[in-house]
Amino acid sequence: MPAMTNLKSDDTSTALPSPQYLAGTPQVGGSSLLDFFLPPTAATLEAASMSKDAAEFVMGVVANLSPSEEQRMAELFYASAQDKFGKFFRHADALTTLWAAAILLQPSSYLEIGVCRGRSAAVLGAARPDCAIYGFDLWIENYAGSPNPGPDFVRGELRNAGHKGNVELESGDSRSVLPAFLEQRPDIFFDVITIDGDKSVDGVAADYANALPRLKLGGIVITDDLPVFPELRPIWNGVVADDARYVTWEFIDAGHGVAAAIRTR
Ligand SMILES: C[S@@+](CC[C@H](N)C(=O)[O-])C[C@H]1O[C@@H](n2cnc3c(N)ncnc32)[C@H](O)[C@@H]1O
Repeated sequence: MPAMTNLKSDDTSTALPSPQYLAGTPQVGGSSLLDFFLPPTAATLEAASMSKDAAEFVMGVVANLSPSEEQRMAELFYASAQDKFGKFFRHADALTTLWAAAILLQPSSYLEIGVCRGRSAAVLGAARPDCAIYGFDLWIENYAGSPNPGPDFVRGELRNAGHKGNVELESGDSRSVLPAFLEQRPDIFFDVITIDGDKSVDGVAADYANALPRLKLGGIVITDDLPVFPELRPIWNGVVADDARYVTWEFIDAGHGVAAAIRTR
């Protein structure tokens, strides 16, 4: 029986599950005496996520993805904003934050719930080609108006982006497939996690409850869409932002926004 939050499910008024953290969780980079625990501060993550380096790197990766409506919109957005605002352009999203996490943590394992066409995974994979990537998706057809072809397509996008590490992509509802996978792999912990799959209150709560106990100390969890799905805000606040294990940062001025948390204890 999982632990419960005091947050309520929309449909059933039942309590939502909460993460059950594990004793002996490893830290990013291992625990050698030479590798003392030094997670980035929230301000460091913000600076990297909003940097020109981040925007330029993401633009380069997005330009190399297979064409789609979403890819064209992203290219247009970055190029127009840089033209218009020049050196004053400041912006962050899940992609620039993933680049920042890759640069700051040098991750060796990345979990993404909601992979879709592999855009976010390609940014992380391009920035950190040896990082193992674990992805979970239902591959809902024509998600957000673009074809959602599935694992083989994503593997191709990752290779084109320059990723060379291990890739494991699991198909099905993350609410059941992720816990089943993790039960089989008690050894796996992640340096970086993106939660970007099911956008229902129950689905997101389940994804946090299942994934967060496997985030390493010093690791970073990223989500987006809080401005688009305001009903998900209480879950982020209740499960992550208000939990003393995490320091958090978010940018919600535009678009899908991004919220990120560094696990400091
Ligand atoms: C917003 S897209 C992910 C975008 C991706 N992270 C990126 O940056 O390109 C959401 C994805 O979640 C998947 N999804 C929706 N509900 C799901 C569920 N219950 N389990 C697993 N995947 C789900 C959809 O098929 C879709 O591909």
